[in-house]
Amino acid sequence: MCLAMTNDPHALFRDWMEEAKASEPNDPNAMALATADAAGHPSVRMVLLKGHSEGGFVFYTNLESHKADDLRENQQAALLFHWKSLRRQIRIEGRVERATDEEADAYFATRGRDSQLGAWASDQSRPLETRAVFEARFDDVQKRFDGGDVPRPPHWGGYRVIPLNMEFWQDRAHRLHERRFFLAQEDGSWAERLLYP
Ligand SMILES: Cc1cc2nc3c(=O)[nH]c(=O)nc-3n(C[C@H](O)[C@H](O)[C@H](O)COP(=O)(O)O)c2cc1C
Repeated sequence: MCLAMTNDPHALFRDWMEEAKASEPNDPNAMALATADAAGHPSVRMVLLKGHSEGGFVFYTNLESHKADDLRENQQAALLFHWKSLRRQIRIEGRVERATDEEADAYFATRGRDSQLGAWASDQSRPLETRAVFEARFDDVQKRFDGGDVPRPPHWGGYRVIPLNMEFWQDRAHRLHERRFFLAQEDGSWAERLLYP
């Protein structure tokens, strides 16, 4: 879908994501997530988008990680998708809420067993002395859940970025890039801010 075809940023997002899934060699759902602590110190890392609806953009992570610490202190975040071969970028800024336990349980249940066990064994962002320590912990949790379902660990969950604004950027020939900026309105509709008068 070209940029001019809709005034609904969620529809445009869905469409661009479908095109990215068809053309990107891996992880079309990878996005940079920027957070900041209470003092405003920023940090950024890649995460995978695991859910999208009119309600927002969902990712999952370790709740003891640096990003989770930031989000406890400061519920503002920004997302960035960049699809190099499509020459497209989407920027999203918004407020962050925890995904519900039911949502996190449902998504956790779809993960491969190794990822589920890894979530129990991992202490993301907290230094582990060696890789061998992680592997020993992995073996322990493997024994602990031997044969049975692996439940979601209490330190693992999801967040939803509820967009306040969304900007779509498309590269065009001769540097005539197209850009559209949408701003969420109180009534749930979207207003467009013109970038070029
Ligand atoms: C392509 C890609 C996808 C990733 N997806 C996730 C993810 O969905 N959740 C996650 O916690 N970490 C993911 N990571 C790892 C994070 O980038 C990061 O290293 C980790 O979450 C620790 O970040 P933090 O210390 O800032 O919290 C991904 C990394 C890459 C390169």
